[in-house]
Amino acid sequence: METHQRRSALLLGATGLVGSEILNLLERDGSYDRIVIVTRRPLAAFDGHPTIRQAIVDFDHLGRYANDLRGDDVYCAFGTTMRKAGSREQFSKVDLEYPKQLAMTARSNGASHFLLVSSKGASSGSSNFYLHIKGQLEQALEEMDWPNLTILQPSVIGGDRSESRPLERLGQMLLSVAPSSIRTVPASSIARVMVDAGRRPSMGGTRRIESAEILSIARSLQ
Ligand SMILES: NC(=O)c1ccc[n+]([C@@H]2O[C@H](COP(=O)([O-])OP(=O)(O)OC[C@H]3O[C@@H](n4cnc5c(N)ncnc54)[C@H](OP(=O)(O)O)[C@@H]3O)[C@@H](O)[C@H]2O)c1
Repeated sequence: METHQRRSALLLGATGLVGSEILNLLERDGSYDRIVIVTRRPLAAFDGHPTIRQAIVDFDHLGRYANDLRGDDVYCAFGTTMRKAGSREQFSKVDLEYPKQLAMTARSNGASHFLLVSSKGASSGSSNFYLHIKGQLEQALEEMDWPNLTILQPSVIGGDRSESRPLERLGQMLLSVAPSSIRTVPASSIARVMVDAGRRPSMGGTRRIESAEILSIARSLQ
């Protein structure tokens, strides 16, 4: 007799460009009996949803919500920009401290797979502050002993934003025809590859999926 394993997902960044694509896929996919989205503001469209539960939190006090931060697989598409953050300290808080704390809590609550949207070039040794912080988060996650850790490292992300990011928009246009290693990666492709990796974790350990590979896996999933 086929047994149905109940699985649950925790999603950080559900209101963002990639996160909203992940949420749509998870909702349609049906692999999870419970999807918890962790946000700072409610998403009215999911009020009363049968499988999606909203944990509205104050990210400066994540410890208060430890009981809500439960899921087998944790999807993280979370972060800000230097322009929005306004300072290195604030940027580091959002792109490193918040996801790190959430990861630690979810891990101690029994989560077994963490899936992260990081960035091409992320390295704790980078002299570029953005890439340094992204690398520090990757390193912190690797030190947490996740049974499965999947890290996607896209180049510039493409998609429609309500918010104006002129430089990013220019980058997206210029890189839309560049070699695949630096080509613009559609947010929908990242989400597809991530949800597929969540459904079929590798044999354990850390798996990094670089930009060109995200594009090629996404094509194969179409
Ligand atoms: N943009 C690119 O070209 C690019 C390239 C490579 C990697 N990345 C990385 O890829 C990831 C996903 O990118 P994206 O473009 O999908 O991100 P996004 O659209 O900017 O979404 C970011 C998410 O983080 C949340 N967030 C930001 N600041 C917050 C704060 N202070 N408190 C609570 N929540 C906060 C947002 O919530 P609210 O909606 O409430 O603000 C949103 O859910 C990010 O880590 C980004 O750095 C981006």
